[in-house]
Amino acid sequence: MKSKGLRARATRGRRLLLAAAAAGLLALAALPAARWILWRRELNPVLRGSLLAGRQGCPACHLPYRAVEISNPGSRWGSVPRFQAGNFMMYGESRRDIEEFIRFGAPRSWLDAPETLERLESQRLRMPAYGSSLSDDQVADLVAWASVMEGIEPVGGEAVAAGRQLAREHGCLSCHGIEGSGGLPNPGSLGGFVPGFVGGNFADLVRDEDEFREWILDGTSSRLERNPVVRFFWRRQKVAMPAYRDDLDGQQIGELWRWVQALRAAERPTSEP
Ligand code: HEC
Ligand code: HEC
Repeated sequence: MKSKGLRARATRGRRLLLAAAAAGLLALAALPAARWILWRRELNPVLRGSLLAGRQGCPACHLPYRAVEISNPGSRWGSVPRFQAGNFMMYGESRRDIEEFIRFGAPRSWLDAPETLERLESQRLRMPAYGSSLSDDQVADLVAWASVMEGIEPVGGEAVAAGRQLAREHGCLSCHGIEGSGGLPNPGSLGGFVPGFVGGNFADLVRDEDEFREWILDGTSSRLERNPVVRFFWRRQKVAMPAYRDDLDGQQIGELWRWVQALRAAERPTSEP
């Protein structure tokens, strides 16, 4: 009798173990698939542009070491322009100008005038022309990235400038990507990256303005906190959302919300994988 009961328990134990192992294997297989879907949902022109820029060598010239501009004797202003330095107006004024730099290495007007063409040909460093080696979509992504880096034709204009400024001042963009474009690495998290404000994942994490407030004030969402899978990954992620209760008031969070809404209205998320 006794040994029969023991055997039954041992069999049940083995079955449970097998079931747990199978569930573990399933989860292991599902995680890469989930990551792939989340990443696809996160993608947007600025994020794609920033990744492409990294592969095309743009940071070497435009995001120099310790922010010291590379000298460029013979060029118009004597150095290679550093991005985010606020000096784009010395080179152009619109997205269209940015596109011409990327496609042709300089605006058409510089290339068409003999004296500026001569200067370009004699300066130490020259912007490469990327037009012939990239597709139109790739150029469009680079234009989107370079435009936000240079602050050209910002989405929403003056009406949402206060929110944009707050996001810059409080370091939100170091984690959430320039203009909330997301995608920065976050090992241990479910997606493997920090979500931004424009991609398709935002809507799952932020249902409405109240939840947005909660994220910023407390660094969490009480709705998501109830989910054990979410908690599992939150405990493991290396980068977590800080709480800003001591730094930001209700009105400032309202400004941030209006800016994020403007970004989302302009940037149709590429949510379909
Ligand atoms: C070898 C260095 C070099 C590389 C690589 C390079 N550029 Fe440039 N870029 C320049 C120089 C130099 C200028 C300034 C124009 C001049 O003086 O001829 C410039 C100007 C620009 C401008 C206009 C000026 C400004 O301040 O915004 C944009 C936009 C730009 N580059 C984007 C890019 C992008 C995007 C990439 C990568 C796809 C890239 N550049 C790669 C050297 C480079
Ligand atoms: C140290 C990095 C870091 C900083 C700085 C930071 N966040 Fe976050 N934020 C995160 C992480 C990580 C998450 C968690 C996402 C998750 O768990 O899925 C998050 C989540 C959020 C969310 C909800 C999810 C989403 O898609 O956006 C919002 C909204 C948010 N942060 C806004 C802000 C704002 C506004 C600031 C600046 C006042 C800011 N964050 C500063 C890392 C950061």
